[in-house]
Amino acid sequence: MNLPKKKSPVRLSVLGSGKGSNCRTILSAICAGQLDAEIALIVSDQPDAGISDIAREASIPFLSFPETRYRTRLSEEQESRLVAALYNHGIEIVVLAGYMRVIKAPLLSAFPGRIVNIHPSLLPQFPGLAAWKQAIDAGATVSGCTVHFVDEGIDSGEILGQETVPVLPGDTAESLHARIQIAEHHLFPTILQRLCSALRPNE
Ligand code: GRF
Repeated sequence: MNLPKKKSPVRLSVLGSGKGSNCRTILSAICAGQLDAEIALIVSDQPDAGISDIAREASIPFLSFPETRYRTRLSEEQESRLVAALYNHGIEIVVLAGYMRVIKAPLLSAFPGRIVNIHPSLLPQFPGLAAWKQAIDAGATVSGCTVHFVDEGIDSGEILGQETVPVLPGDTAESLHARIQIAEHHLFPTILQRLCSALRPNE
């Protein structure tokens, strides 16, 4: 009797600079059997960021770049080391979840069409930093989040999915960001599952 073969999980690396709530929901979706993937490497430019706790708790290899010469990006040498680590861990999709460094050519060309980012606005509106604050300042009544492929620009790659949230009277940047994050935690694993299924179509 031929039992159906189980798909091999797609190997993800999650890169983040902050508390790592998106990384945590991706891990939860995997554990719940809703995402056919595994997180094979967590990377941060902040050795003590919350995302490093997830690596420790779940025994996931963790790589950090504590000393960075530039504020907004890794040095070329560091980015080459990052690419080597991603290759060594057999990474298939690079997931940016609150990663605060601009991605440069070595990484982009090593993973063409395989780097995705989550951004806290409905792109193309409000690219760049503190998008939730930009939405409040602009008097927007609707905001949300976007998952998109990463290209050379700032939050400019092909859009893979979006989820909207209302901006309520009296919202502060913090309260709006908290509402957007709830949407992120739903949208990101959903889009990642779509990408993972596309990578394993006939298994
Ligand atoms: C998210 O809101 C993401 O959209 C933005 O940074 C935040 C990261 O949050 N780019 P977390 O570290 O995943 O909690």
